Amino acid sequence: MKRKVLTVGCGGIGERHIRVLSGIDDVELSICDINENLLERLQKKYRISRLYSSWDKIDLERFDMVVICTPAHLHIPMISNALEANCHVLCEKPLALSSDGIERVIELSRQRDRTVGVAYIYRSMPALNLLREKIVSGEIGDVKSIAFVIGSDYSFYRPDYKDIYYSDLNKGGGALHDAVSHMMNYIEWCVGPTESIYCVARHLVLPDVDVEDSVGCVMTFSESDAIGTLSLNQFQRTYGMIFEFAGTEGVIRFEGPSHSIGICKEPNREFTWSEKMNLSRDDHHKLQFENFFRSIDNHEPFVCTLEEAEMTMRTILAAHESVKQHRPIPVLDNVRTP
Ligand SMILES: NC(=O)c1ccc[n+]([C@@H]2O[C@H](COP(=O)([O-])OP(=O)(O)OC[C@H]3O[C@@H](n4cnc5c(N)ncnc54)[C@H](O)[C@@H]3O)[C@@H](O)[C@H]2O)c1
Repeated sequence: MKRKVLTVGCGGIGERHIRVLSGIDDVELSICDINENLLERLQKKYRISRLYSSWDKIDLERFDMVVICTPAHLHIPMISNALEANCHVLCEKPLALSSDGIERVIELSRQRDRTVGVAYIYRSMPALNLLREKIVSGEIGDVKSIAFVIGSDYSFYRPDYKDIYYSDLNKGGGALHDAVSHMMNYIEWCVGPTESIYCVARHLVLPDVDVEDSVGCVMTFSESDAIGTLSLNQFQRTYGMIFEFAGTEGVIRFEGPSHSIGICKEPNREFTWSEKMNLSRDDHHKLQFENFFRSIDNHEPFVCTLEEAEMTMRTILAAHESVKQHRPIPVLDNVRTP
C-alpha cells in the first residue's frame, strides 16, 4: 500500500522534499501552501495527488505522514494538528523558537505512538555519520577540542533572503536559528548536551536585513570536558566548511564541499583522507526519508528526536541570550531528559 504523504510549505526546502518524495514509488504525495500560484506550478512539474491552499481545512486523518516545511514559528502548532490526526511527522529545523507547546507534542507523540522527527539533515549525511562513528568508537581518544569554521554567501544561494523568514528573528531568521542550529545539533549528537555557550553575533554585511549574519561562539559540554569553538558567516565569497575534533589519540577533520574525512593519529603527520562522499543535496534528503520510513516501520526513534531538537533550540536561545548579556549562559538547566 502507498504511503499517503502531505507536505506543507512548498518554498525552498519544501520543493526539494516534494521533488524527492514524488520520485519514490510507494508514496502518494499531496501538498499545501498558502501560495496558490506556487501549488499550480509544482503540480505541473511533479507527480502530485491533491493541492490544498488552507492548512486548517485539510482532513489530516486521510494522511499517514506530514512533512512540515513552513517557517519555524508554525512548526509546533502544525506538529500538534498532525499528531491529533494520528499522522507521523517529519518537521524541518529548527523545531521551534520557544518552549511553548513542546512538552505537549512530546506527550502527544507518546500517547498516539507516532514517530516525530526533526530534519537536521547532517544526521543523514554519510560523511558526517562516519565522522561521528569514529568519535563515538573512541578512535581519536577523548575529544578535548572542537573547532567548526563555516562560511558561505547566503545571498547567492537564496537571492530572495530579504523577503522570506530569514529576515525576521520571530520566524526563525538570522544565522543562529537558521544555520548555527545545524552545527550545534551535530556537535551535540557527537559529544552530548551543551552545558554553556558564550556567543558574539552581529549583522555585518548582508544588505537590507538587520538579523545577525556573523557568529562566534565558545561552548562547554555536560558529558565532555572538551572546549568547543564555532565561527560562521553568511557573506564570504567562497563556500567553506571545516569541522575538526581533536582527541587524546588523534585528530579528525570533515571538509565541505567535498565531504571528505581526514584522520591523523601520529604526531606531525599529514591527514589520511577518505574518498569524497559529496552526494547531491537531493540524495541526502532521499537518505533522510529512508531513515524516516525505517523509523516508522520498525517503531524506532528517528535519528533526530523531538527531545534532541529541543535541546538544540535551547542552545540557540542561550546563544541569543549570551549576545544580549555579553556573558556565557548555561544551557543544561533547561534540558529535558529523553
Ligand atoms: N534542512 C535544511 O537544509 C533546510 C534548508 C532550508 C530551509 N530549512 C528550514 O525549512 C523551513 C522553511 O524554509 P524555506 O527556505 O523553505 O522557506 P520559504 O520561505 O522558501 O518557504 C516557506 C513556504 O511556506 C509557505 N507557508 C507559510 N505559511 C504557511 C501556512 N500557514 N500554510 C501553508 N504554507 C505556508 C510559504 O508560502 C512558503 O512557500 C525553515 O524552518 C528553514 O529553517 C531547512
